[in-house]
Amino acid sequence: MTAQRINPSILSADFVNLQAELEAIRSADLVHVDVMDNHFVPNLTMGPPIVERIQAVSPVPLDVHLMIADADRWAPGYAELGAYSVTFHAEAAADPVALARKLRSIGARAGIALKPGTAADDYLELLPEFDQVLVMTVEPGFGGQSFMADMMPKLRQFAEARSKLGIDVWLQVDGGITVDTIGIAAEAGADTFVAGSAVYGGVPEDRIAELRTAAAGHSH
Ligand code: DX5
Ligand code: ZN
Repeated sequence: MTAQRINPSILSADFVNLQAELEAIRSADLVHVDVMDNHFVPNLTMGPPIVERIQAVSPVPLDVHLMIADADRWAPGYAELGAYSVTFHAEAAADPVALARKLRSIGARAGIALKPGTAADDYLELLPEFDQVLVMTVEPGFGGQSFMADMMPKLRQFAEARSKLGIDVWLQVDGGITVDTIGIAAEAGADTFVAGSAVYGGVPEDRIAELRTAAAGHSH
C-alpha cells in the first residue's frame, strides 16, 4: 500500500489561537500553510513573519502552499525559514524548474501547483524536477468550496507519468477534501490530502483519523 498523508490546512483554524490549533493536529503528517497575496488570488492571509513563528512552534513540519505572484522571488524565503515543503503555482513562476532546483538546494521539498484551468501536459516530463505536484480541486483562494471531481483525469495523467518514470513524487490534492471525496482522489492516484474545513470543522484529531480510514480503502 502506498503511504498516504493527511495535511490539515490552517486556513480554517482560529488565527488568534494558532499555537493551540497547531497542537490540535499533532497526528497529522504535515501542516498545510496557505499563503495568499491578494494578487494571485483574491484573498490575503499571511507572509514570512507569521509563517516563521508557525515554523518555530509547530509540532508538525510545514507544507507551505504559495498562492502568490512572482513566486521566483518569494518562494526561496520560505525554504530558508525551514519549511519542509514549498509549493508554488506553475502560473506564477517564470522558470519553475530553476525555482524547484533552488528550493531543493536550500533543503526543502519542491512542489508545483496547478489551478483547475491549467493542463498537466507541459509538466509531465518535468516530474523528476519536483518532489510533489499539487492538483487543485477548487479555484484557489478560499476554504470550504466543493470538490471538483472533473480534476481526476488530470490527477490520473500525473499518476501514469509517475509510474512510467518510476519516481516517488507525491501527488497532492487540495480543495473540498472530505470523508466523502477523499476516496475519489485516492482512487485517481493522490497520496497526499489537504483538508481545511473538514478537519477544523470538528475535533481535529477525530477528523484526521476519519479521513485516514476513508482514504485507506482506496490506496494504490
Ligand atoms: C484554498 C486553499 C486550501 C483550503 C482548503 O485555496 O489552498 O488549502 O484551505 O480548504 P477546504 O479543505 O475547506 O476546501
Ligand atoms: Zn492550499
